Amino acid sequence: FSYMEKNTDIISTVEFNHTGELLATGDKGGRVVIFQREQESKNQVHRRGEYNVYSTFQSHEPEFDYLKSLEIEEKINKIRWLPQQNAAYFLLSTNDKTVKLWKVSERDKRPEGYNLKDEEGRLRDPATITTLRVPVLRPMDLMVEATPRRVFANAHTYHINSISVNSDYETYMSADDLRINLWNFEITNQSFNIVDIKPTNMEELTEVITAAEFHPHHCNTFVYSSSKGTIRLCDMRASALCDRHTKFFEEPEDPSNRSFFSEIISSISDVKFSHSGRYIMTRDYLTVKVWDLNMENRPIETYQVHDYLRSKLCSLYENDCIFDKFECVWNGSDSVIMTGSYNNFFRMFDRNTKRDVTLEASRENSKPRAILKPRKVCVGGKRRKDEISVDSLDFSKKILHTAWHPSENIIAVAATNNLYIFQDKVN
Ligand SMILES: *[C@@H]1O[C@H](CO)[C@@H](O)[C@H](O)[C@H]1NC(C)=O
Ligand SMILES: *[C@@H]1O[C@H](CO)[C@@H](O)[C@H](O)[C@H]1NC(C)=O
Ligand SMILES: *[C@@H]1O[C@H](CO)[C@@H](O)[C@H](O)[C@H]1NC(C)=O
Ligand SMILES: *[C@@H]1O[C@H](CO)[C@@H](O)[C@H](O)[C@H]1NC(C)=O
Repeated sequence: FSYMEKNTDIISTVEFNHTGELLATGDKGGRVVIFQREQESKNQVHRRGEYNVYSTFQSHEPEFDYLKSLEIEEKINKIRWLPQQNAAYFLLSTNDKTVKLWKVSERDKRPEGYNLKDEEGRLRDPATITTLRVPVLRPMDLMVEATPRRVFANAHTYHINSISVNSDYETYMSADDLRINLWNFEITNQSFNIVDIKPTNMEELTEVITAAEFHPHHCNTFVYSSSKGTIRLCDMRASALCDRHTKFFEEPEDPSNRSFFSEIISSISDVKFSHSGRYIMTRDYLTVKVWDLNMENRPIETYQVHDYLRSKLCSLYENDCIFDKFECVWNGSDSVIMTGSYNNFFRMFDRNTKRDVTLEASRENSKPRAILKPRKVCVGGKRRKDEISVDSLDFSKKILHTAWHPSENIIAVAATNNLYIFQDKVN
């Protein structure tokens, strides 16, 4: 992989559009930055298109909930693209409470020669208007505009952790800690509550929803994961309120591994359907698991992301790192899995060859177009050259958000406030 780096605010989400030509990031400051891949030029055959900033806009602003005396952060939790249907692009962005539908469109002409106003938009004195003009469109520099088309507010009491566009492209869902709502893109004043796990007595609360996603092809099916390490598959055809799941995926705990931290580290931070729709992948604190939709009692594959942290859970609890929410992604053909770790390391697992690699996204260790070197963490014993000891890992540098191009070996890795785009070496 060779690399490219972009500076922004602390990145909170990364998402390619369905063909991979556009890449959107959301940040802590409520901004969305869209990158577009350059067209390949004929005289630079060995240079593949780089991603350059296409549009930047403020999606969410900080707000204050006077009723609860709570600050509502502007941080963008998730971005999801809609498939392109006309010349404009549409995406959904969400913070903790409000989902917005944005239209991003290009303009390269502007109207000139109005009758009632001048070029700056000021009204002309009617007394001076003596002739009728025909307005004309004049070419101008390309401008990319982002306009909010819909605002879906006031439907979530808790923090939104996921949004997912349905394969019917008419609806989407938004999930918070205790509820999942279904929306129609055209209707902002009403949503349908499809999951509600809020107990009548909040003191009986033992589990929260951590992530949710629609099946890529079956518009009636979706999954959601929980803080107890379980996944529920629901079918909206069965009943309007999907409180009773169709399938329930859970792995029995290995009693020999039981500890004070078992419950915390089994909490699922991300759930993703494979492109084929046959598998689901989940990320918990130490592992990534792949589940076959037809087998509920255990995952078919388990990959250790950073098993060397098992002996460090006590200090990771003290510094709150144990609550970090790592995401996971599939490559375009579902054969490779990627997820993040600490020290700006991220991991890839090849499901066929069972080979895995640790790579590092950092300014110090890579130059543009350099090749990434695999990294190794050593546990106890003698440390070999090029290895890094567990004790010198930097836990403030974490890779929580990554994205994989839908059809090529191009990945986007968010390392705090830097976005790294790595692509397969060309030749
Ligand atoms: C992704 O973005 C590109 C614009 O660069 C566009 O041509 C393409 O249609 C988009 N793909 C989809 C499926 O929306
Ligand atoms: C939503 O708005 C539409 C159009 O303004 C209106 O007809 C409808 O009754 C509203 N629904 C709710 C639940 O308020
Ligand atoms: C128990 O711990 C071992 C080693 O630390 C690990 O390889 C194994 O996957 C764990 N078992 C479960 C069920 O998590
Ligand atoms: C997924 O990864 C494998 C292994 O690197 C690669 O051969 C394949 O082309 C990738 N698929 C896509 C669609 O990027």
